[in-house]
Amino acid sequence: MSGRHESLYGRFLAPVVENLLINRDSIRQLDHQIDWLNTIERLTNPQVIYPRYYETSSFHGIENGYLCKDAALSYDPIMQYALPPNERWVRQGLIESIQGLPERILDLGCGTGTLTVMLKQAFLGAEVVGCDLSPYMLTMAELKSDEAHVEVHWRHARAEATGFQDDSFDLITIALAFHEMPPGVAQAVLKEAYRLLRSGGEILILDGNQKVLRQAPLLSDLFEEPFIRDYAAGSLDAWLGAAGFGAVQSRDHWLVHQITRGVKGVRDRHPEESLFADVEAVEEGEWVMG
Ligand SMILES: C[S@@+](CC[C@H](N)C(=O)[O-])C[C@H]1O[C@@H](n2cnc3c(N)ncnc32)[C@H](O)[C@@H]1O
Repeated sequence: MSGRHESLYGRFLAPVVENLLINRDSIRQLDHQIDWLNTIERLTNPQVIYPRYYETSSFHGIENGYLCKDAALSYDPIMQYALPPNERWVRQGLIESIQGLPERILDLGCGTGTLTVMLKQAFLGAEVVGCDLSPYMLTMAELKSDEAHVEVHWRHARAEATGFQDDSFDLITIALAFHEMPPGVAQAVLKEAYRLLRSGGEILILDGNQKVLRQAPLLSDLFEEPFIRDYAAGSLDAWLGAAGFGAVQSRDHWLVHQITRGVKGVRDRHPEESLFADVEAVEEGEWVMG
């Protein structure tokens, strides 16, 4: 992999993951199978202006961050080892936390679309949109939805300024993206999500467990993640509250992950109410999911 920096991952884990665990031949085959030039041109929205942090940061030690095919091609093979205890199970935890029956779903920072496709498979009647800043990641995502024979709309856009209309989604998901953004951008994304959700719509976030990351700072050094310490120092609950969401609650998900949920237009619950309880059970007078 080009441009690998000397992070803990680069020094100790990359040689194991990339030489022993990843099948380089299948990545090469996939690379040759893709018409990168035309696909990138088709998926690129020329109006997108990349934020400076995105163009200049090296995520996971790869120079050019997500704006190169190396990052996109290696993402899924690495992720299967990077989400303990099991990538699919971790993602399924988010899907099982959804309380409504969403008809329009938006997955922000969708990357290679693994969660987005799972969402479509879980809600076959729903219109599902995946939005990401990297046309390279979207290329892999499109391939994934084609192979799964499901229709997902892939959109090249900044999660903090998507261009969608107000109140246009029932569910917004954001997985593993906030620890890779400066907190100011993450908070702008939450404000955009609030604008995009209809009243009663829900937001679900899957990401690193902020509490555990604070308690075990070594975890933040493991992969080259330029903003993970800022993310760990913050509070997703507080950020959701500041963006306007109600009924905000986080739960640990296999220790190192957390799932955070909020609802647009529902006032904060009493702290004793159970986590992710049926929103329809809120007292009369409160707004409910409809
Ligand atoms: C670690 S990946 C997570 C991808 C995917 N959600 C998943 O669960 O595997 C982070 C993704 O966020 C995207 N991203 C980062 N900043 C973004 C922004 N401001 N707007 C949209 N996407 C962004 C990156 O391009 C990358 O694909």
